[in-house]
Amino acid sequence: MLKGRSFLEPMDFSTEELEELFVLADKIIQEPEHYTKVCEGKLLATLFYEPSTRTRFSFEAAMLRLGGQVIGFSEPNSSSVSKGESISDTIRTVACYADMAVMRHPKEGAPKVAAASTDMPVVNAGDGGHQHPTQTLTDLLTIRKEKGGFDNIVVGLCGDLKFGRTVHSLIKALSRYENVSFILISPEELRIPEYVRKEILCRNKIPFEEVENMQEALPKLDVLYMTRVQRERFFNEEDYVRLKDRYILDGSKMKLAKQDMMVLHPLPRVNEIATEVDSDPRALYFKQAKYGMYIRMALIMGLLGIA
Ligand code: NCD
Repeated sequence: MLKGRSFLEPMDFSTEELEELFVLADKIIQEPEHYTKVCEGKLLATLFYEPSTRTRFSFEAAMLRLGGQVIGFSEPNSSSVSKGESISDTIRTVACYADMAVMRHPKEGAPKVAAASTDMPVVNAGDGGHQHPTQTLTDLLTIRKEKGGFDNIVVGLCGDLKFGRTVHSLIKALSRYENVSFILISPEELRIPEYVRKEILCRNKIPFEEVENMQEALPKLDVLYMTRVQRERFFNEEDYVRLKDRYILDGSKMKLAKQDMMVLHPLPRVNEIATEVDSDPRALYFKQAKYGMYIRMALIMGLLGIA
């Protein structure tokens, strides 16, 4: 039962609970007309302290398509946050009006603090460079729809593996499936954080390699997950400029990949995937963005106890 729970990191739900969400998302994709009123009378609050396009819009679209309504801010300076209100007071106030909240915040752990201050379900929509569990639901639904499941796959993650919160959440979530292995492609300075390497990969004896060369890794991959270098998390601009175009996936590199390798990207993209790749049938990132809305519809239904 997901009813009334918060979703702060991928491990908050068991693989069985995730499977229920994927099955529901599938049903919604098949027959969206059956779900247009299920959230009538329910209100979702979106509290975005950091920029967003897909995550906020897909949550809002999800709730509206379920017949519910949405309040919120995408510009914290337009709310009492600018007067110095704490996260805890803001969420307790929002809980007076809404049935659930989705929060994105630059500080790691902020949605956890919010969830601890209320009985209303709180969803982490990205906390600093830490976790982004609903992007992971999106990524998993895409892999499940296109590959049929998660077992026995080689997943390459490429780019900013240090600050990329979507990467941390995806590795965590995939580490629970059978025979998944990872090739982690990044410059030395942007390798995955120690806690991901030690507590998730090493502890669970998951096979992984850390490499710098993308071309060598490409032929081995079933899934390639590209990421943007996270400019906003860098201490100085020079480092960002030096690292930002380190990996660019283009048509010639795609020739090295398997015929059925999936290319995923949480988006927004900057330069890391050349636009010429968009027309390659293996490029699934816009489809992935669409799946993001359906899995969020399933998640909202689950947390509100409508599923
Ligand atoms: C990601 C994020 O916010 O972490 N975007 C998203 O939610 N789809 C990835 C990114 O910003 O690079």
